[in-house]
Amino acid sequence: MKFFIDSASMEEIKKAEALGVLAGVTTNPSLVAKEGADFHERLREITALVPGSVSAEVIATDAEGMIREGRELAAIAPNITVKVPMTLEGLKAVRTFSESGIQTNVTLIFSANQALLAARAGAAYVSPFLGRLDDIGQDGLDLVETIAELFDRHAIDTQIIAASIRHPVHVTEAALRGAHIATVPGKVLEQLTQHPLTDIGLEKFLSDWQKTQK
Ligand code: E4P
Repeated sequence: MKFFIDSASMEEIKKAEALGVLAGVTTNPSLVAKEGADFHERLREITALVPGSVSAEVIATDAEGMIREGRELAAIAPNITVKVPMTLEGLKAVRTFSESGIQTNVTLIFSANQALLAARAGAAYVSPFLGRLDDIGQDGLDLVETIAELFDRHAIDTQIIAASIRHPVHVTEAALRGAHIATVPGKVLEQLTQHPLTDIGLEKFLSDWQKTQK
């Protein structure tokens, strides 16, 4: 499983990029708004820094509008992936993008059927939202597993991005259950590096090393 960062913060993205594990970035309008940044300008900055896929979401709700916006977004950089919501209009737009060689990430996936349809429309990625399903008492990880099984059984090569990740257990479990990618908030990415025994162990090694300095 690969790691994307789910963020529009240049500070977070730079930190993640420096770790050497970053395969891409997902953004959404809420994440860019939180940064107080200009949408297109921020995407230019992110795509200049990260060579992998950078998801940029359309806000039109009709297929024609999504296609127009998506083409503008795709013109920002070759590594832009157009993020399209899982709607009837969204599916039509995904088909058009796929026919013209523009990669899409179908977002707001909450069921296996939505994922199957998005894949068949030509999506490069589907994004099941784990945390938001957990919030309403459903198991987001079960959904990832079901989608992974279906894609495997039907030889579908659309990649599953485990999204709406809230904590490190989501990450491990998403990997176990077949997600190809986890898009992880900066805070969770940092949590993944930490363990109290690592800190205690390092402290001990450093203090023992001092004893060797005669
Ligand atoms: C994914 O592409 C979305 O941007 C994101 O994971 C949504 O997460 P949230 O439920 O924490 O807003």
